[in-house]
Amino acid sequence: MKRISIVGLGYIGLPTAIQAAQVGYDIYGFDINQEKVKRINAGDPTIFEPELTERLWKTLKSGNFKAFTDLQYADCFIITVPTPFKENKTADLRHVFHAGEIIAKRLMPGNLVILESTVPVGTTEKLALFLEEYSGLKLGIDFFVAYCPERVLPGKIFSELVENDRIIGGICQQSYELARQFYAKFVKGIIHVTDDKSAEMVKLVENSSRDVQIAFANQVADMCHKAGIDPYQIIDLANKHPRVKILTPTCGVGGHCIAVDPWFLIESFPEETDLLRSARKINDAKPHHIIKKVLHRVDGLKGLGVMTPKILAMGLTFKPDVDDIRESPALLIAKHLATHKDELALLVYDKNVGIDATKAHGINQVEDVWQGIAWADIILVLVKHKEFTLIRDEAFGNKIIIDTCGLLHDIHLKQSRTFLEGATKSQSDVWE
Ligand SMILES: NC(=O)c1ccc[n+]([C@@H]2O[C@H](COP(=O)([O-])OP(=O)(O)OC[C@H]3O[C@@H](n4cnc5c(N)ncnc54)[C@H](O)[C@@H]3O)[C@@H](O)[C@H]2O)c1
Repeated sequence: MKRISIVGLGYIGLPTAIQAAQVGYDIYGFDINQEKVKRINAGDPTIFEPELTERLWKTLKSGNFKAFTDLQYADCFIITVPTPFKENKTADLRHVFHAGEIIAKRLMPGNLVILESTVPVGTTEKLALFLEEYSGLKLGIDFFVAYCPERVLPGKIFSELVENDRIIGGICQQSYELARQFYAKFVKGIIHVTDDKSAEMVKLVENSSRDVQIAFANQVADMCHKAGIDPYQIIDLANKHPRVKILTPTCGVGGHCIAVDPWFLIESFPEETDLLRSARKINDAKPHHIIKKVLHRVDGLKGLGVMTPKILAMGLTFKPDVDDIRESPALLIAKHLATHKDELALLVYDKNVGIDATKAHGINQVEDVWQGIAWADIILVLVKHKEFTLIRDEAFGNKIIIDTCGLLHDIHLKQSRTFLEGATKSQSDVWE
């Protein structure tokens, strides 16, 4: 296997293409988005990921990688297209089967097709049968199909592409053997092989497990707020137990994975997924609770005579230190607050998200975080970007701080103070 076509050059497909090109494969990228293809070939990717641009430049120069707007013949096709959900929360697989339709026209004897997109259990098999029907080739004899879910962490994609263990599910033994050979050239983690349905299930339970754990952390936070205690302190202390690992409460769950994938299990196993449904409900409700709290604070300030309270929302992305705003609860909160034009003034700050991108969502961005802090009456911390943890708490002065992600707790720890030393009465009043 030498020539590899990567179908879908987004957050997963482009780094995978570059990584594979860097170990010597001839990579043909393919995307239906012409602008994306043009910019990739010009060395100017539309997404941010550490090392991405430098590595892209190198691979373009090496001649091992080029992006196309039509699919090239290859020995192996890797599908990394989006798998969102529909309005009714069922999986929207049209991109996967559209990719399948295009691949079927190029499929040749001996080819391998690997699906990496996250999908409901049974999708790989459906795709394999679809390819068989549309190509006229015999599955398991003429061509092979495997499922290999991606588990990388945005922000660390290149190191995790190499270091993480991989799960490969083959439609048949030859399918997973061929897929194993492909990944073994750059994966240093252990490659585990199984059948296609099991590999699909592994990916879905991994992300659902994270969703449930985040929902638990968010409920711990709700209880602590009611009790008037700092949830981040409680979780820190509980995690001193050798077998407890509570995650950090946040303003909700977003992104293309954790907020979406549990629905693929709920859709397939409606009677076995009460816990997943509850977790989704809790995490989806979180941004709305925060909006209510902010509006309550705004009313409080109005009662004190501040005509139009000014809010600085810090962070817009779905998690720290990425540029991805898909399904972002922080963005949802900011967008909602921006609609309350008559009651409040809103500015956001997130240097990972361009000012134009912010504007497209009807929100104005301040260029400098310090300028924003000085301007605001309420500081709403939505995402704990590394940049924010460098701020000293004195910088916030007497402003109202609504901290939805434990920034103050981290700042205090950084300033080498214990909770009790660090939390003055007024600060603990405003911990949210
Ligand atoms: N982003 C992550 O961190 C992450 C992590 C693990 C798994 N995944 C999964 O990987 C898959 C891809 O996610 P992503 O974040 O890279 O998506 P993305 O939206 O960033 O990229 C997908 C790309 O596919 C292209 N595309 C759509 N239909 C196409 C078609 N028929 N032919 C060719 N190109 C097509 C789009 O134009 C886009 O550029 C999803 O299933 C996702 O759940 C993502």
